[in-house]
Amino acid sequence: MSLVPMSELLVRARRSGYAVGAFEVWNLESIQAVIGAAEGLAQPVILQVGPGEADYAGMEDIAHAAIFHARRAKVPVVLHLDHGDTFERVMQCLNHGFTSVMLDVSHLPYAENVAATKEVARVAHACGVSVEGEMDRIGGGATGIDVPDDAHLTNPDQAVEFVRATGIDAFAVAIGTVHGFYQGEPHIRLGLLEKIAARVPIPLVLHGGSGTPEADVRKAVSLGIAKVNICTEFVAAFADTYAHEHAASDFRYNVPGVFLKPRAAARQLAEKKIRLFAGL
Ligand code: 13P
Repeated sequence: MSLVPMSELLVRARRSGYAVGAFEVWNLESIQAVIGAAEGLAQPVILQVGPGEADYAGMEDIAHAAIFHARRAKVPVVLHLDHGDTFERVMQCLNHGFTSVMLDVSHLPYAENVAATKEVARVAHACGVSVEGEMDRIGGGATGIDVPDDAHLTNPDQAVEFVRATGIDAFAVAIGTVHGFYQGEPHIRLGLLEKIAARVPIPLVLHGGSGTPEADVRKAVSLGIAKVNICTEFVAAFADTYAHEHAASDFRYNVPGVFLKPRAAARQLAEKKIRLFAGL
């Protein structure tokens, strides 16, 4: 069905009450696992690449591989830059054919974040590319905030202003999810999401999908989340299966022996998440 921009896909998703899964990819196996899962369920899907994956695989290399597979997929596929760290990285992605970008400068003061995100939206939109924006720092991962306190959560009034001032297509909410596995009990502020959704009409994005309770994810989707990001659980499905197989007494170092089961496990995990987000 081919490579598509992200905005129309997510507008339709929010309007119809489902979410599209967005999975981090870094090599051939991960791309095949995500697209295979989406095709098997006849659902659209988002391949995303963050700075870590881009630096590991090479931006041009991973873009070419992802675009090759997206173009011949039987379902709509988006190629998105997740948490772009510099304006240069965003420009590289536009140059290499990404159909959606995000510049994450949420660590900067609000006014600087608005100015930088607005500039990205102006340039990306001129290329027909969608833009996701983040106003607040979402916890976990490299940010070192494991369970965000309320100070890190999205203020609905400020979210309205951020979306209006920047012209973004999708807005990443901070409602208590964290990147990576949770250190403590997840405490997802669904009441806050309801307030944000009532004021912000564009598709909303849930970062930190790994380990977030399924009931909370379903409720969040019903309230306006149109994209859910999954990285850690997807990588873990691949890596843990490899580790398990490696420990078996009959393990052999040949390509199918090393990579077939990890790729199948990653695909299974993607299928489980896509079903959850689509309400299948
Ligand atoms: P997880 O690693 O918790 O799945 O979060 C992924 C994410 O939000 C990437 O932006």
